Amino acid sequence: MTMENIESVLQESRVFPPPADFAKTAHINSMDDYRALHRRSLDDPFGFWGEVASELEWFKPWREVLDESEKPFFKWFSGGKLNICHNAVDRHARGSMANKAAIVWEGEPGDERVLTYRDLHREVQRFANVLKSLGVGKGDSVALYLPMIPELAIAVLACARIGAVHSVIFAGFSADSVRDRVQDASSKIVITGDGGWRRGKVLELKSIVDEGVADCPSVEHVLVVRRDPFTEGFPCSMQEGRDVWYHERAKTVSPHCPCEEMDAEDLLFLLYTSGSTGKPKGIMHTVGGYSVHTYLTAKYIFDLRPKDVYWCTADVGWITGHSYIVYGPLQNGATVVMYEGAPNAPDPGRFWELIDKHRVTIFYTAPTAIRAFMKWGDEWVEKADLSTLRLLGSVGEPINPEAWMWYHEKIGKGRCPIVDTWWQTETGGILLSPLPGVTPTKPGSATLPFFGVDAAILDAEGNETPSGLLAIRRPWPGILRGIWGDPERFKQTYWCNWEGRYYFPGDGARRDDDGYFWVVGRVDDVVNVSGHRIGTAELESVFVEHPQVAESAVIGVPHEIKGQGLVAFVLLRGTDSTGSDTLRSELNDLVSKRIGKFAKPEKIIFSADLPKTRSGKIMRRLLRDIATGQSLGNVTTLADPSVIESLKTKYTD
Ligand code: PRX
Repeated sequence: MTMENIESVLQESRVFPPPADFAKTAHINSMDDYRALHRRSLDDPFGFWGEVASELEWFKPWREVLDESEKPFFKWFSGGKLNICHNAVDRHARGSMANKAAIVWEGEPGDERVLTYRDLHREVQRFANVLKSLGVGKGDSVALYLPMIPELAIAVLACARIGAVHSVIFAGFSADSVRDRVQDASSKIVITGDGGWRRGKVLELKSIVDEGVADCPSVEHVLVVRRDPFTEGFPCSMQEGRDVWYHERAKTVSPHCPCEEMDAEDLLFLLYTSGSTGKPKGIMHTVGGYSVHTYLTAKYIFDLRPKDVYWCTADVGWITGHSYIVYGPLQNGATVVMYEGAPNAPDPGRFWELIDKHRVTIFYTAPTAIRAFMKWGDEWVEKADLSTLRLLGSVGEPINPEAWMWYHEKIGKGRCPIVDTWWQTETGGILLSPLPGVTPTKPGSATLPFFGVDAAILDAEGNETPSGLLAIRRPWPGILRGIWGDPERFKQTYWCNWEGRYYFPGDGARRDDDGYFWVVGRVDDVVNVSGHRIGTAELESVFVEHPQVAESAVIGVPHEIKGQGLVAFVLLRGTDSTGSDTLRSELNDLVSKRIGKFAKPEKIIFSADLPKTRSGKIMRRLLRDIATGQSLGNVTTLADPSVIESLKTKYTD
């Protein structure tokens, strides 16, 4: 979030009550009901969550709703047996909803596929049997590196069905990132595709996987899905014995595959995300609590109704796609729109055209996309009929009030409530959000805690304060269960404050007189670029791999569209302090290779020195001040104050 945005958020005083029409039919429609239910969810969490969980189907009931005996390793619904795929697919496929559209997919070139719940049931079973035929069973790790095609959702559900642990890798990551994740999770199978469309270009996923898994002895097979099952597809080189075409293997397997009975605390998936130190961490989510949390949040926050057409524009490669494209809405029996391509392909009207064409009623997107649309101009919006929309959502970063107002007026035409949802990969589902039929909204605020969420703003000692660190003071069902292979890092990252009593999400926030939360952004060295989390330490270690680089410091700076952009200060070896464009492009290539193109910095500044304390610690705070043109804070601890002047000049050059 930019300083400007923080300023405007601080001055924000507009309040928008929920539209009366919306409130009339909403699942929850009075503040008194919200408050009473929220109170109950905290006073009687076992009763509250037990009742919610009963709305899902269980093969065997749980013994205990919450077991806190090994805090912070919580257990929810211990002893219970269920399968999230059963709740997301089977229970809808067998009844009156069998012929309802589950997934309405549109490819970037405009091709379409619609899968009813019955179709989805059939496809998921077939996919599950293909995985089984390759030796995948309960507890095995399966990596997915796929474009946004229906098979991505199908494969995720197929893994869940047979108890395999899915690890989805966003298809913008590089071969090196694929390798790191596959190695860390010891994935047995990698599922990829022959290609996918992105801004008119074909993503060559298979060759990236080939490069990535070359050093991954755990990988027994690479399963390759054709993007278009009805054509010859894109050419791919296949490695004899290792690589298998999905469409060929699918013909040989049985169409029936029962759901594995999973223990509530069995691992459902790993999803890698960046932290402030070290390599990305494999966030662990288990079946029971995650099912219940995503089910209930999707139901109440998106106010899902049988006739809704729900579209979340995220990629299934991120947590938003896991929880609010696949598991949350499908457990509610919703019709979900899935779109393969870019928002501006072939032109910046694409999203609005899609809403018009598919009669979308609920639309969930990210502030960075909203800001891009604002820049592209209102004429693209005006061409489309958006009258079917009844609810809008925002996720991924703080939304600046200006973008909120544009979204409200231009997209929602002033009549759709906006749910600004705060949460993280680690939280599994939404924790702070308005309820659309209840909560008066304020542009830029994620408003109030969801049921069962005990959120507070605390100082370092754990006292409540109007502005400070966001804390969640009790566990909720979707809480991460750990970091794969690194329980110590789990404890140190999330339970490092307040003597380990409360969960620390890494965000700073403030609370206003109405008790509304205003999350302002990360307080650690994690930067949120277009809603993608990037650890500055990760980037710094990429730069120092280059033989000419001695040291680097990477910071986040305000960016008009992306929310935040990255700036790298790079100290060269020897006497060279000017660098060159060649070196700059070599460093950019290195970032693309190690992480992915989306992590490329906005600026690389070569320098003879970096501002350091006398003990040699880089003062990133001063670098941020230089980049934002702020007057510099306390510089008395600087070893060599003259560095600052030269950096200032270089930055503005
Ligand atoms: O800083 C918060 C920001 O995004 C971080 C989580 O990133 P990730 O795990 O990639 O998940 C993104 C999708 C849930 C948070 O620590 N963030 C996310 N949503 C909001 C937000 N900041 C302010 N307001 C939000 N609505």
